[in-house]
Amino acid sequence: MKVVAFNGSPNKNGNTYNAIKTVAAELEKEGIEVEIVHVGNKLVRGCLACGGCSRNQNERCVIETDGVNEWVQKMKEADGIILGSPVHYSAIAGTMKSFLDRAFYVASSNGGMFRHKIGASVVAVRRSGGIPVFDQLNNYINYSEMIMPTSNYWNVAYGTTPGEVTQDEEGMQIMRVLGKNMAWMMKVLEAGKSQVKENEKEDKIFTNFIR
Ligand SMILES: Cc1cc2nc3c(=O)[nH]c(=O)nc-3n(C[C@H](O)[C@H](O)[C@H](O)COP(=O)(O)O)c2cc1C
Repeated sequence: MKVVAFNGSPNKNGNTYNAIKTVAAELEKEGIEVEIVHVGNKLVRGCLACGGCSRNQNERCVIETDGVNEWVQKMKEADGIILGSPVHYSAIAGTMKSFLDRAFYVASSNGGMFRHKIGASVVAVRRSGGIPVFDQLNNYINYSEMIMPTSNYWNVAYGTTPGEVTQDEEGMQIMRVLGKNMAWMMKVLEAGKSQVKENEKEDKIFTNFIR
């Protein structure tokens, strides 16, 4: 089994990376491969809201000049997905947000590409804004009919300078427990697939508040 984790920080080996690594170590102990993709230092533009991914039905964003389409395929092939972001102004770091908007729009408008995969979010923060970012990341997972493992607190770890987060003892435990629960859940799901038939996907109903 394989997990792909996205580091949404501009820092390659910063606090988001260390939080992801701590989750990854537990997954790897259970024989699950983890690939960490560094998104936060790339040039990734935001969604054009052009609807091209929905019209073309080719599992691709029409913008072909960055890594988004490759990362969508990595998620499609993986059994589990980790979304990691530092807090920037109480929000997901900008590059990561651009990536997530486009990738999850492609996935949802092309048959629900991430449906029933295991997905979790992790956040690194200096002081304040961790929970809003955790919520924002989880919105992508919830929207996609993914299955979310939990920890013994919200998946937020504290630190400022790169790597400082490893001194947050409780934060590191949260990441370890998340990794253990994620590994267990992935194995349960894998074992259960032969026993329990997957339910059928319902076509999405789109309404708005005026009709
Ligand atoms: C542009 C920017 C905005 C930030 N905004 C916040 C914030 O709103 N709240 C906070 O507590 N920390 C904020 N920080 C600090 C980072 O969240 C913190 O240093 C985090 O650990 C960085 O993770 P990283 O090493 O993975 O980049 C901000 C940092 C930057 C660069």
